[in-house]
Amino acid sequence: MPTTCVVGILWGDEGKGKVIDYLAADTDFVVRFGGGHNAGHTLVLPTGKLVLHLIPSGIVHAHTVNVIGNGVVVDPVHLCGEIDKLRQRGLRVDLGRNLLLSERAHVIVDAHRRQDQWAEGLRGSGKIGTTGRGIGPAYADRCARIGLRLGDLIRPDRLRAALHGLALQKNAWFAPAGLPALDVEAMFGELAAAGERLRPGIVDAGAVLRDAHAAGKRILLEGAQGCLLDVEQGTYPFVTSSHASTGGAFSGTGLPPHPMRTVGIAKAYATRVGEGPFPTELKDELGNRLRIAGNEFGSTTGRPRRCGWFDTVAVRYSGAVSGVGELVLTNLDVLRGFPLQLCTAYRMPDGSSTTALPAFDLEAVQPQLVELPGFTEDLREVRRFEALPANARAYVQAIERHTGLPIRTVSVGPERQQVILR
Ligand code: IMP
Repeated sequence: MPTTCVVGILWGDEGKGKVIDYLAADTDFVVRFGGGHNAGHTLVLPTGKLVLHLIPSGIVHAHTVNVIGNGVVVDPVHLCGEIDKLRQRGLRVDLGRNLLLSERAHVIVDAHRRQDQWAEGLRGSGKIGTTGRGIGPAYADRCARIGLRLGDLIRPDRLRAALHGLALQKNAWFAPAGLPALDVEAMFGELAAAGERLRPGIVDAGAVLRDAHAAGKRILLEGAQGCLLDVEQGTYPFVTSSHASTGGAFSGTGLPPHPMRTVGIAKAYATRVGEGPFPTELKDELGNRLRIAGNEFGSTTGRPRRCGWFDTVAVRYSGAVSGVGELVLTNLDVLRGFPLQLCTAYRMPDGSSTTALPAFDLEAVQPQLVELPGFTEDLREVRRFEALPANARAYVQAIERHTGLPIRTVSVGPERQQVILR
C-alpha cells in the first residue's frame, strides 16, 4: 500500500519523529494533517538532535516533498523562524519545492495565544495544561467561521477584511475579559510580511496530494500528538483541539479515504504531559526514576512528563479507533533495571472490571496489573529480536498478546540505527 499513516497511540511523545524519519527515507511525500507547533518531533541525526514543531519530519531527506496540510493550524511567524533555523543547520527548505503549505490551513495569531493562556487561568485547578500556543482558540475560530487561512495572507484585501471580522467578534468580549484589543493594522503588517515570505509555498496542497495519490506516489501521513488527545475520541476535555487519530488524516489533507497501512507508535511505558486522567500513572519514586531514565521532559514546553505502566486497555482502544495494523514499540532500552508491569483491565468504581476504555470517570478507575520479570541488560546495541534478553522478548510478546497488535519494530535508542526489525 503506497500510503502509510503514523499515529501516536496514547497522549503523544511516543517517539514518532524517529519512526517517521526512517520511514521517510522510502517515501515521496510526508504530510502533517493536524495540530500545530504544540507538537515536538525529535530526530537524532548524525549531525545532532533536531526538534521539529510544524515542519514535517521528512524535511531532512533530500528527495521528499513535505506538506503542511489543511488540518494544521499554522503560526506564520513561528513557521518563518523554524524555516530559518533549519536553513542555519544546513538543511534545504525550498518553499514550493520541498515544502508546501495548504492555502486552506488556518492561521494562529497572537490573540489566540493570549486567549489560550487566559482560558487556562480561568480554569484554575481544572486547567487542561495546554502548551499555551493558541491551538484551541485557533481551531475554535475555524469552527466559528471567523478564522484566517494561509491563503488570506497573500491576498491583502481579503486579509484586511478577515482581520476586521475577527476583531469585531473578539473585541466585543476581549476588553471586558481584560485582554488587549486586536490592532488590525499592526496584525495586518506582521501577517502580510510573513505571507510574502511564505508565498511560494502556499498552494492547493490537497490537489497536489490527490494527484500524487492517483499517480501511485508513496505518501506518509505524519500524525501529531496521540489518539487519546483527539478532540472527539480522546480523554475529553483533557485533549488537544484537533483530530489526532487516523480519522483526521483525510479531512486534514484533502486526500480521499483509501486503504492504507496504519502504524501506531507506542512507548514501552506510558507518559502524559499536561493534566487529565492517566490510569497507570506512577506518582511515586518509581515514576520519578522512569522520567529520569527516559529523559521524559517535553520537547516543546520542557515540562516534566508524567510516567506510568504500559496500558494495554488504552492502546487497544486507540488501535481500534485508528485502524492500527501494527505497533512500533519505542524506548524499550529505558526499562533496563525496572520491575515490569502491564495494565490489562480497569476496575471500575462500582467494583466491576472492564477491558474497554470508558468515556467518563477514567480518573476513578484502578488499573489491574500483571507483573513480568524485568531485564538488566543494556539493549542499545541489540539489532535482532532473537538477541534481546528473554525477559525483554517476553515483555514485547505480552504486549502483543494483550493488545492483539503485532510489533514489527522495536526501538532501543534515539538514533536512527538503534532499531530492531522483526
Ligand atoms: P494544546 O494542544 O496546546 O491545546 O494542549 C492540550 C493538551 O494536549 C495538553 O495536555 C498538552 O500538554 C497536550 N499536547 C499538545 N500537543 C502535544 C504533543 O505534541 N505531545 C504531547 N502532548 C501534547
